[in-house]
Amino acid sequence: MIRISKAKKQELYRTLKGVRDVFGEDYAMREHIIERCRAIAASYGFAPIATPHIERAELFTSTLGGTSDVVEKQMYTLKTRGGESVALRPEGTASIMRAYIEHGMHTWSQPVLLWYEGNFFRHESPQRGRLREFYQFGLEALGTDDAIADALIIYTMVLVLKDLGLEAAGAHINSLGCKECRQNWRKELSAYFRKHVYKLCKDCRRRLKENPLRILDCKEEACRELGTYAPQMVNHLCAACKTHFKEVIEYLDAVGVAYFLDHRLVRGLDYYSRTTFELFVEEETAEDAGKEDKKEDKNDAAQKAPHALGGGGRYDYLGETLGSRSVPAVGGAFGVDRLMSLLKRRGVRPKPAHESPKVFFVQLGTAAKRKSLQFIEELRKAKIPAAQSLSKDSLRSQLRIADRLQASFALILGQKEAMDETIIVRDMESGAQETLPFAKSIEYLKLKLKGKK
Ligand code: HAM
Repeated sequence: MIRISKAKKQELYRTLKGVRDVFGEDYAMREHIIERCRAIAASYGFAPIATPHIERAELFTSTLGGTSDVVEKQMYTLKTRGGESVALRPEGTASIMRAYIEHGMHTWSQPVLLWYEGNFFRHESPQRGRLREFYQFGLEALGTDDAIADALIIYTMVLVLKDLGLEAAGAHINSLGCKECRQNWRKELSAYFRKHVYKLCKDCRRRLKENPLRILDCKEEACRELGTYAPQMVNHLCAACKTHFKEVIEYLDAVGVAYFLDHRLVRGLDYYSRTTFELFVEEETAEDAGKEDKKEDKNDAAQKAPHALGGGGRYDYLGETLGSRSVPAVGGAFGVDRLMSLLKRRGVRPKPAHESPKVFFVQLGTAAKRKSLQFIEELRKAKIPAAQSLSKDSLRSQLRIADRLQASFALILGQKEAMDETIIVRDMESGAQETLPFAKSIEYLKLKLKGKK
């Protein structure tokens, strides 16, 4: 056995930085959100897919962009014993495209609409709204370049927010154009930032050489200010990209989705082309958001800025980057942890994920204890979930728990009942008791529980 120091031992029962346990009310809240996401996604024709938590690291390095923060600083990468470089998935879209190609989904009827959910991993500096393990719910429409698909993704995500009671949800949108029209913009952008290079932060001076678009994404105040006056992509869109963007906006208008044109919205991942979007809830002011964690540096304006609850866009070149045919596609994902925090701040309390059963099973004596699992299994088969505290032996302590759990009935199995194959059914409200044969007690409970609903 390896000896561990006292200080190290204390670390053993603490989670790592930026990750957390989810239980109780938080678990119920997450279930509530995901249940709404699934229901709405299904009603718009999206089908579920689950992809692995680990993938080849190159799947992400080749698609998200070498200059993206995710690849540069945040990927959890490890070498396998066989020397292969694998990564904990930092996002879902590259995996979905991999799955589309791997399983020949281009032969299915197009577009292929998929939803997914689960944990994702980014080694970020933990702060408000940023975790190292976080939960996403994502939607992807693959195999279409029709602007209606972009609108469908944005609309479906806005519907989820509205369904969760976040009425003032709006989309920030932009278009990054296609490979061709983006070239000119990139040149103009470089020339503009070169003129102001002395105002840029250290990271952005490097970004200027590698990928000037990333400067628009910088959270530093001076760089943000410069970005406000930078040349805008909308002025450089080619005719086809302009029409596409106009159509997306018209579709959003038609379904009454509020949107704001945000020319700085380049998003943090390199695979995007044409439409990009992020979703915010208007009333979530910087001040509201800042209340969540008082320990932060309150002087840092960027830290207090409202976080996007979700975001996404079109990624028409991702399939080609993976060495396949061109697969036009669009999608978006919610940060479920951010939705959880927001709903909690709004005082939303979802129904507990696990309601305590209406029946409590009490056993007294060895013979009864021996029969208890068998009897609880009979109850389960009859779809009567029962709580129990089998390690307790006294009647009083078991009934006290039944009371605390607000059970409607206690089933009491003593020595005598165990021998006679009977059981005592106690109405917890009135205290009335009757002894019934095992089999009959189940029918009796079914009837009684119906009456209590
Ligand atoms: P993303 O903007 O990187 O996009 O992440 C989507 C959402 O996940 C964010 O808006 C945010 O709510 C949440 N999120 C991201 N990082 C963290 C974090 N460290 N802690 C807590 N929440 C976080 C994507 O991941 C794309 N794959 C979305 C997409 C789908 N694009 C096209 N299809």
